[in-house]
Amino acid sequence: MTVLFADLVGFTARAEQMDPEDVRALLSPYYARLRSELERFGGTVEKFIGDAVMALFGAPVTHEDDAERAVRAALAIRDWAAEEEQIQVRLAVNTGEALVVLGARPGHGEGMAAGDVVNTAARLQAAAPVNGVLVGERTFRATRAVIEYRPAEPVAAKGKRDPVPVWEAVQPRSRLGVDVPHQARTVLVGRDRELGVLRDALARVRAERSPQLVTLVGVPGIGKSRLVYELWQVAEAEPELIWWRQGRSLPYGEGVSFWALAEMVKAQAGILEGDAPEQAGAKLAAMTDDVLGGMPEAEWVTRHLGALAGLGGDGAPAGGDRSEAFAAWRQFVEALAEARPLVLVFEDLHWADDGLLDFVDYLVDWAGGVSLLVVGTARPELLARRPGWGGGKPNALTLSLAPLSEGDTARLIGLLLGRAVLEAGQQAGLLAHAGGNPLYAEQYVQMLAEHGAGRQPPLPESIQGIIAARLDLLAAADKRLLQDAAVIGKVFWPGAVAALGGGPGGGELDECLHGLERRQFVRRERRSSVAGQTQYAFGHVLVRDVAYGQIPRAARAGKHAAAAGWIESLGRAEDHAEMLAYHYLSVLDLARGAGQDTAGLASRARAALQAAGDRVVALNAFAAAAGYYRTALALWPQDAHQQRAGLLRLLGTALHEAGELDQAEAVLAEGSRVAAAAGAAALEARIRILLTEIRTSHGGPGDQALAECQAATAVLEAAGDLEGLAEAWTLTGMIRFWLGDSPADQQALERAMAYARQGGHRRVQLQASFWLAVTFTLLPIPADTAIARAEQLLQTADGEPWSEADILRPLSELYAYSGRFADARDAIARARSVYDRSGAKIRRAMGAHLAGQIELIAGDPAAAEHHLRESYEAYRAMGERGFLSSVAGWLAEALYAQGRLGEAQQATEQAQAAAAPADIDAQARWRAARAKVLARAGQFPAAQTLLDEAEALVSPTCWAALQAGILLARAEVDRLAGAPERAAACLRAALSIYQDRHAAPLAEQTAAALAGLTGHPSAKPA
Ligand SMILES: Nc1ncnc2c1ncn2[C@@H]1O[C@H](COP(=O)(O)OP(=O)(O)OP(=O)(O)O)[C@@H](O)[C@H]1O
Ligand SMILES: [Mg+2]
Repeated sequence: MTVLFADLVGFTARAEQMDPEDVRALLSPYYARLRSELERFGGTVEKFIGDAVMALFGAPVTHEDDAERAVRAALAIRDWAAEEEQIQVRLAVNTGEALVVLGARPGHGEGMAAGDVVNTAARLQAAAPVNGVLVGERTFRATRAVIEYRPAEPVAAKGKRDPVPVWEAVQPRSRLGVDVPHQARTVLVGRDRELGVLRDALARVRAERSPQLVTLVGVPGIGKSRLVYELWQVAEAEPELIWWRQGRSLPYGEGVSFWALAEMVKAQAGILEGDAPEQAGAKLAAMTDDVLGGMPEAEWVTRHLGALAGLGGDGAPAGGDRSEAFAAWRQFVEALAEARPLVLVFEDLHWADDGLLDFVDYLVDWAGGVSLLVVGTARPELLARRPGWGGGKPNALTLSLAPLSEGDTARLIGLLLGRAVLEAGQQAGLLAHAGGNPLYAEQYVQMLAEHGAGRQPPLPESIQGIIAARLDLLAAADKRLLQDAAVIGKVFWPGAVAALGGGPGGGELDECLHGLERRQFVRRERRSSVAGQTQYAFGHVLVRDVAYGQIPRAARAGKHAAAAGWIESLGRAEDHAEMLAYHYLSVLDLARGAGQDTAGLASRARAALQAAGDRVVALNAFAAAAGYYRTALALWPQDAHQQRAGLLRLLGTALHEAGELDQAEAVLAEGSRVAAAAGAAALEARIRILLTEIRTSHGGPGDQALAECQAATAVLEAAGDLEGLAEAWTLTGMIRFWLGDSPADQQALERAMAYARQGGHRRVQLQASFWLAVTFTLLPIPADTAIARAEQLLQTADGEPWSEADILRPLSELYAYSGRFADARDAIARARSVYDRSGAKIRRAMGAHLAGQIELIAGDPAAAEHHLRESYEAYRAMGERGFLSSVAGWLAEALYAQGRLGEAQQATEQAQAAAAPADIDAQARWRAARAKVLARAGQFPAAQTLLDEAEALVSPTCWAALQAGILLARAEVDRLAGAPERAAACLRAALSIYQDRHAAPLAEQTAAALAGLTGHPSAKPA
């Protein structure tokens, strides 16, 4: 059970001189409020002892979250007291075993609980700071995932030898989020239906355990954020606790990638801007341990969240592609929503980068089985940018906020003024100008107050006009202060404002801020994201925009530079890289526009831009990264060869990952020239490797590529560049493999892995191990040997679901070859479930392809057809051709095996149309299948020609499985042509390949075909 003690302080001194009756009368409204707060959170008020109140949570009935309810109640009381001028409180919460008197009537002064836990709670309460909440160890342990604490001095307690360890509760985590404490000046006017929709969505999410997306769309000031706030109150009033996470997007041009999501993660972990990297990392780890504890993927998810929160270490990507990061983030969201209903609010989506929009889209599509409500707010620009936003989803809803009716606007004005109506002419004018926009009404009324009674201020055309007029009324120092704050952003800190130097400093600054807060230009936020700095926010972002617009252009550059300087002084530069980049870019743009010299700034701007690029690469936001690198590049003089070459490599890599292959090729070609000019041999070699990879994937000649790799390895070896060597050998292995060259590809990949291991480059290591596993499926090694090695590779990918799934694909094929169909189906099902849960399109199609292949080996062409068609359709829908051409070949086989010749022919045509000339696998497969179809129609010469071509393609390779496949096709054609001896010879050759590979099921099938041909079993399968 959990005990809460609350003591009203501040009255005691006065109460001594007062009549007890009067004291009671004075206190009674406060006690009523205390009681109602306690009861709202499910507490039972046990007794009033003088000024102190004792309440129990978990008696007479225990709930799983009693401790949390108690701490939340304590914090609610603390917050209420902090706002009341008259009173202060000290609070304590303690959890433990207590003696409970059943049947007690607390209303009649009968105590329900007694024992050590109660006595200690009383001690803690007495030791608590004014307007503070102390908790004991068990309470702390039970609630630290949901409440933020700071350590406090242990408390000495009677009857205890050692002091009792205690913590001070700071705030409930679910309340965090920058924009939640919306300042509502009046009750909500109108909007019943809109709020009803939100309420229903929340109820539905909870009842059906399925995700919902509601997007509120409307012009600035129409009331989107207000509705979110109203929903928050609904959620807060629920007896069941609901997680609430809120983040916003920033109006910084390109946007800070995934900022809103990063805010949510940081809030969940309690990470502050001022935290040192180790501290932030430790907080993140503790949080994921709480949320994901015990899940096998926990480490993987943590890594991806770390990249998101700017804890990427050396800026190395967390691995994989964007869909992998999405999958990891989604798993985190699901784990949160698993524990209790979760509301995620993405404010101001019109400023979100494409990556974030894609993620929200993806999350709502793929999160399953959990109570998740996603609420977005956006100005109408969002729909112009993404006309299909939310469209086509059964669980998405877009709500457009219309202006308030005249009646409601008039009511709102009345409420704001605190009196019924304005003078008739003024009222009519105001209604007409406000156009049903609550922000306009609010700002106008504010201006009326500032103008003083009797004078009638003008009615500007727009909200911006009103705000400008209000700013003009301010004292010069206040106005400069707001302008400086506007440079920093929607949220700002006094230290940063002081660093800009336009306004007052020190105590005067605080005073000005206080005055501006009273006039509701800004508000103080309860939580600050910079340690040791109070955080302020503009009351409305439009105030920020207008204030910014009033800064003389010539002064802006200097202010942005000072803001950047302040951010740099915070440390953890990589986390702020994009903000820094924003400020530096602004400086450069402005300075250039004004014809000022920018040379002095360039070096810091370049560093910030490159860091910003590295950070978003870690988030797999490659297009955004390319933008940063390009801008940084433009800031280097032409003769800075070394630095330019380094940036060109990063830019080329980002473009490659973003799928801009032509641009990547051009950039890397330039990079290699510049590196050569700088005499940077190792860098040049690494650039050439990338270039070679791109050219080869375009169908460039393989022997030339190998020569490039060889030259690069020699250089990199001399330079001792392990990562470069790992990359070079991976590419060598891949090329040798595609050339069907020899087992040398395996040696190359093994070397790549060794280098990657040695240098600790896990990303390259996993890439190499995947390719190695793929080579096992085609090369002439016995299936069981291959299986053992692939299983080993699987071990090394431990804890990386994505890499595991990638290795499970070839492994499942190997199981099928060796006749272990149950294992094969199980392995591919495991891989597919990883892909399915993530929505990774290409890999899902690959998974279906493998499932089809397995069924074909198992001799079930109908089942194979089902999977292959799924794969084929998926590739077709994405416009993918490289894999589609191979799948179509397999599909033709499955159809032929079912005697559906017309469809088989059609599939070979589709394969033929899609296959790249250099794609040996696809080119050979469709020919083999077509040859059989032609033979059925008696067109033997044409069939033979195709088979000759196929054989010419595969005979230089070591791809035993494909060679055997061609032999089987030949046998079929020969059999149909009435040449059983030739057919038998082909079958025997195929049989020996299968036997060598210990491919039992295929060997059996071939032996059976041979027996059917010759009339007697001529060979025993292995
Ligand atoms: N229906 C309403 N009743 C009373 N006040 C309202 C109502 N709608 C909005 N307001 C008030 O009007 C002001 C502007 O609303 P809000 O901040 O929600 O606008 P917004 O649509 O989020 O604008 P932006 O696009 O700029 O973020 C707020 O102070 C809000 O409390
Ligand atoms: Mg808003």
